[in-house]
Amino acid sequence: MTEAYSSTIPAQARENGRDLLIRLTAGSIVRKALHFHTIDSTNTQARELARNGEPGGLLILADEQTSGRGRLGRGFISPADGGLWFTLLLRPPEGQPVSPAVTLIAGTAVCQAMRDMDILDASIKWPNDILIRERKAAGILAESGFDLHQQPYLILGIGINLTIEAFPPELAASATSVRMSTGLKIDPIQLLQGILTHFSDLSDQLNKEGFPAIRSRYLSCSSTVGRDVILTDPVMNPDLAISNRAASDPRRIYRCIDIAEDGSLVLLDPSGRVFQQNSGEISLRYPAAPTGTMERDHT
Ligand code: BTN
Repeated sequence: MTEAYSSTIPAQARENGRDLLIRLTAGSIVRKALHFHTIDSTNTQARELARNGEPGGLLILADEQTSGRGRLGRGFISPADGGLWFTLLLRPPEGQPVSPAVTLIAGTAVCQAMRDMDILDASIKWPNDILIRERKAAGILAESGFDLHQQPYLILGIGINLTIEAFPPELAASATSVRMSTGLKIDPIQLLQGILTHFSDLSDQLNKEGFPAIRSRYLSCSSTVGRDVILTDPVMNPDLAISNRAASDPRRIYRCIDIAEDGSLVLLDPSGRVFQQNSGEISLRYPAAPTGTMERDHT
């Protein structure tokens, strides 16, 4: 990072970051930490630093984000002390491209760290949304690019709802927090430490052996395999552009039968055709059909 750029980071964030770094103990992949009380978005800050050549291993943590960002241009609610909001800046090993599987191992690390802290119902909805009892409790926004020296970077923004008690009406049916769904009181820094430890371990394995070596750990967290799904991305499912009813047409409901060796979904369509899907979003159908609406969108 250049001096000119580092002067745009408030001194308080650097100071708090030093304290945070000390609390993140051995085994962590974090080289430098910045801890903001309030920031627009930890991903936006990390992306600007990455573009200016900041090396990997930077962690940015915020107590509150005023413009938290989610996937597909959505916002992400991140109120003061409502959860764990952070971004990790990574650089792939010299000469290698960013591996898409990094986002899958990030989800695995979050799920396993949550389970370690007794949030036993945490699971992954493909590719990397974290659900607790069918509702979304955490999300991951991965953004990659090249810096001004043409070196690749990956930023992994992770948001986990810990103590939020109520969501806006449009999210009320699909979102949850750890407190709402389990009553548990979680120390965010302990959870962060757990995520970093799992992530560090998984990314070592990914770099050495590729995704097939960690697929079983991903699968042990998955709540998608064995479920019926609807493709909720208009590019994947053009019927969405027409109406939700068309999108839920039984001919558009697929059974997820596996996660492939490259992390893609393996889907079975109603005519018995098996195909793979490696991008986009899905919504899960309920395991057993209750009365009323069948699908829930966990976006
Ligand atoms: C999603 O589910 O759509 C992804 C949500 C990612 C939210 C996190 S919170 C920390 C980081 N900073 C952001 O602005 N977004 C990510």
